[in-house]
Amino acid sequence: MKTRWRYALLVSAILIYGGMMMKGREWMRGGREEGRPSAFDEMDDTPVPNVQRKIGDSRCSMASCFDFTKCEADRLKVYVYPDAVRTEGEQTSSEAYTKIVQSIRESPFYTSNASEACLFVLSIDTTDRDKISENYVRDVSALISSLPSEIWNGGTNHVIFNLYHGTFPDYAAEHLGFDTGRAIVARASASAQNFRHGFDVSFPLFHKEHPIRDSIERAFTLRDRDPILVSFKGKRYVYGIGSETRDSLHHLHNPERTPMLTTCRHNNDWQAHQDERCERDNEEYDRWDYETLMVNSTFCLTPRGRRLGSFRFLESLRAGCIPIVLSDDWKLPFDEFIDWPAAAVRVPEKNVLLVNDIASSFSPSKILKMKQRGRLLYHRYFASVEKIAMATLELIWSRLNLNRFSPLSNQLLPFETTFKSSSPRPIVVVISTGDRLNSRLQRAIETIGKVQGVREIIILWPSTRGSPPIGADMGMNGVEITIVETENQSDLPLEEIGRLIEKKNELRGSAVLFYSDRSSESEKEISHLLSVFSQLPHTLVSNHGIEYSVNGASHSSTFANVALLHTAVVHSGYLSFLPLFLPSSLISSCPSASLSTLISSLSLSPPSIVVGHRLEQQWNLINLTDCLNLISKRYPLGIPLVANNVVFQ
Ligand SMILES: *[C@@H]1O[C@H](CO)[C@@H](O)[C@H](O)[C@H]1NC(C)=O
Ligand SMILES: *[C@@H]1O[C@H](CO)[C@@H](O)[C@H](O)[C@H]1NC(C)=O
Ligand SMILES: *[C@@H]1O[C@H](CO)[C@@H](O)[C@H](O)[C@H]1NC(C)=O
Ligand SMILES: *[C@@H]1O[C@H](CO)[C@@H](O)[C@H](O)[C@H]1NC(C)=O
Repeated sequence: MKTRWRYALLVSAILIYGGMMMKGREWMRGGREEGRPSAFDEMDDTPVPNVQRKIGDSRCSMASCFDFTKCEADRLKVYVYPDAVRTEGEQTSSEAYTKIVQSIRESPFYTSNASEACLFVLSIDTTDRDKISENYVRDVSALISSLPSEIWNGGTNHVIFNLYHGTFPDYAAEHLGFDTGRAIVARASASAQNFRHGFDVSFPLFHKEHPIRDSIERAFTLRDRDPILVSFKGKRYVYGIGSETRDSLHHLHNPERTPMLTTCRHNNDWQAHQDERCERDNEEYDRWDYETLMVNSTFCLTPRGRRLGSFRFLESLRAGCIPIVLSDDWKLPFDEFIDWPAAAVRVPEKNVLLVNDIASSFSPSKILKMKQRGRLLYHRYFASVEKIAMATLELIWSRLNLNRFSPLSNQLLPFETTFKSSSPRPIVVVISTGDRLNSRLQRAIETIGKVQGVREIIILWPSTRGSPPIGADMGMNGVEITIVETENQSDLPLEEIGRLIEKKNELRGSAVLFYSDRSSESEKEISHLLSVFSQLPHTLVSNHGIEYSVNGASHSSTFANVALLHTAVVHSGYLSFLPLFLPSSLISSCPSASLSTLISSLSLSPPSIVVGHRLEQQWNLINLTDCLNLISKRYPLGIPLVANNVVFQ
């Protein structure tokens, strides 16, 4: 009753204010309103006087509204305002925003020192700007004006997150009901018409249940043929904005190949509006399981809802189903760097009846390629709130670093860096050495010297070993030798090694071979390891693996989900990714565990353990278990490791 009353108020208020606001909005959108299809778009949903009407500065660009001088450090630093002290009964942040903020605070980018920050994130929840929603925060303007003005600074360098804008009946207002000033808005359901290209971020719509960090789900196989060609299961609006497309889906319905299952049930007033098809539709609808349907479909329709964005977009990718987007003008998530046509299909809403024909026109090999791309995209950028938040920060950072290396720049995953087929992948060897000077290092270098394709050798030199031999070529004519000093013989400074390689264009995408002067592998065994790597460059290839479970680590198992870096090969791109993924302290104290977790989480693949040597006693399994326990604390759904048979070959 209360809600209805509010609707009634709202509608009558819109009629009164709508006309008054039109002029102002046209000006703000720079006259780009012309030719827009729906009359609803001209209305305004905020009939309450005194509400800030600005979207933020509509002319903002990185050049005009962003302060680059705050971002001169070589690492991104992000400040998150402390949570406000809440009085009893006061609203807390939504689940979605709580996860966004938590993942940034626990990320390698977080700083509690605002004066060294490049980006700023509010602790005020701005994700849900639908006035009739329970998560709507009423007094955002007041909360912002109570922030220290030297930090807020008119919104400069702030990132404001938004999942929902506008409200019933037209959901048209894209302003958030408060002045975002010079802040960058990361918004789901963004329309290309009002988007400040190159400044705002198109953000994915995700459920509040979306995990803060993901685990690895059962490995489903992607097929090039499915029992179902196209499907849809969802609400059909019997009235109002967004209803047209969904309302015509029944023309496409075929229970075997193209089931279109809609229900009229939504809100509590649907019965008042129901049409003659509702009852039959509702029955059919209840017979199908949403997820089973998606998993068995080649294409999944993701029509616009009341707003342009749809949860289905990510759900389809997760299920290995190719999304068919029916939402004109919707800015697909992170389209600034993601090549969506390789993983999704867009059909103009007016062509909805052609969907089945369009879907039939894809070849099986194209289908498989698109599904694989979709799954990689999902796991690289969308599978958890953390991945989504990090991708947003990475995206902004990559705009500031056009000349510096950025993992996002044209790379979906590190192992996708391609080489001209004429040039073999370069090899960089990292040799760990013991505490004291002895002849082992020379022997290791002689072994490595026989391996084909070695371009550079990095020697880790513990301080206890004395001064390093500057400029020595150690008999390796033509191979560059770099010495990296470490504190401890067990130190493996992965971040520094990654930076060293990334600095040299010709070494990007190389195979990094970890070797130790205690390793017993011969040149032949090393070459074998490298040849396995050339087949599986997306995995961590090692001679030593263990199986980790909640009960601890074991090296007696014939399965392995963690590879040790004693004699191992990895794509150098993964080393540059590590600092985006885990805090530096974890990477440096737990290199094997960190790298194994990163690689299986991004590639969905187990490590490749090729020889299966038994571990020697001195390798500290207890410490490795500590490390894995520490990392798994970050993953409420389980540490994302994948196990595979150890292959003796
Ligand atoms: C905060 O950062 C500034 C600028 O880098 C620095 O001068 C200051 O010492 C830092 N303050 C604290 C408490 O670390
Ligand atoms: C759909 O998928 C489920 C689980 O993946 C499977 O059990 C079922 O047989 C499939 N249905 C059809 C019609 O293939
Ligand atoms: C070096 O290793 C020893 C044990 O091997 C440890 O106690 C010490 O804290 C380490 N030092 C550093 C700086 O990591
Ligand atoms: C063992 O791992 C912990 C991290 O859990 C690290 O802080 C510590 O330095 C490691 N100890 C040794 C002896 O390597």
